[in-house]
Amino acid sequence: MKAKRRVVTDIGPPMPSRAAVQRRGRTSGQSSAGATRASEPGSRPVPPPAQLDGPIDLTVDLGRGLVLPNPILVASGTFGYGIEYGEVVDIEALGGICCKGTTLRPRVGNPTPRVTETPGGMLNSIGLQNPGVDAVIAKYATTWERWRVPVIVNVAGESVEDYVEVVRRLDGIPGIAGIELNISCPNVGRGGLQFAIDADAAAGVTAAVRRATDLPLLVKLSPNVADVRPIARAIADAGADALTAVNTLSGIAVAGSRSRPLLGNIYGGLSGPAIKPVALRVVYEVSQVVDIPIIAIGGITGLDDVLDFLAVGAVAVQVGTAIFADPTLPVRLVGELEDACRAHGHRSHLGFVGTALPRRAAAPSSKGVEYRP
Ligand SMILES: Cc1cc2nc3c(=O)[nH]c(=O)nc-3n(C[C@H](O)[C@H](O)[C@H](O)COP(=O)(O)O)c2cc1C
Repeated sequence: MKAKRRVVTDIGPPMPSRAAVQRRGRTSGQSSAGATRASEPGSRPVPPPAQLDGPIDLTVDLGRGLVLPNPILVASGTFGYGIEYGEVVDIEALGGICCKGTTLRPRVGNPTPRVTETPGGMLNSIGLQNPGVDAVIAKYATTWERWRVPVIVNVAGESVEDYVEVVRRLDGIPGIAGIELNISCPNVGRGGLQFAIDADAAAGVTAAVRRATDLPLLVKLSPNVADVRPIARAIADAGADALTAVNTLSGIAVAGSRSRPLLGNIYGGLSGPAIKPVALRVVYEVSQVVDIPIIAIGGITGLDDVLDFLAVGAVAVQVGTAIFADPTLPVRLVGELEDACRAHGHRSHLGFVGTALPRRAAAPSSKGVEYRP
């Protein structure tokens, strides 16, 4: 393990525990944006609180010295290495950049076609095309070091040893603020079973990486599981500093000829607005069973989506597919979130967090087996 990296931004107040955030969110007496939506059945109009003057604190403390300047990040695979967007976007205004998935060795990616549109979303099978960790460090780290915005390197691998080796090489490199483990990869050692769909495999790779680095460690959950909660708990217990949720949903499309699946890899990952309800459900469930921060991802295209994810317990979000249509969206959302805080009388966006969560853990069912779609 090499020397600790620099602290990325000013240290703000430490992130409160999830329970504290939930209590605060529900007892502040301030309305959340969600609670004032006029179109909701049964909702009563709530008079808006007085507009706040003075500074709004949007910082997010993920632990181990990583304090995001604000809760709007860009998602891995949709913003390159950050450098590509420098001409069109004020990168320094972002809360963080999750760079493209990085592997030990270079990868050429999957056969084409790799991308297709679907109603409300997009299906991609890029296949983790990237130049490999050494080239990523050589090409980008010195630029990242000059930026104020934290760059979090998304790491992928086919074995625990792969992940550990990539992270060892990233550890101590100036300009790298944290690691996001993409564990939606087939584990070659276990017959191709994805790390992300098995609690033991997910915990095993998290614990091994934890031992290899002091860098802040985020682990990205897959929505492609029957029950994500035991997996999230296992990852948190194994030493992750934060969870990111969710990666894409597995899907396929059929070629126009109907003689084969459309994508060269057959399977692709569904992203965009189509997956938002699934991502919301995952964040809602996970935020009730772990105490580490959750960064939500899935179908964000506007401020309402951000506020919805905060309401179910996320403390920050990542914008992904929507960037392809409008690269300026994430930066705009930072300003819009600050305005929303002022309009709702919150000194920090944490005032929006957890407002849609149950007041207490649900009592055990007394009705026997219940239908849950
Ligand atoms: C083209 C593309 C490439 C992606 N590459 C990665 C990747 O390398 N690593 C990763 O963890 N997630 C990757 N993702 C998933 C996104 O980071 C994000 O989790 C997902 O797209 C859901 O968010 P969205 O609906 O806002 O796009 C990729 C998504 C897309 C669309």
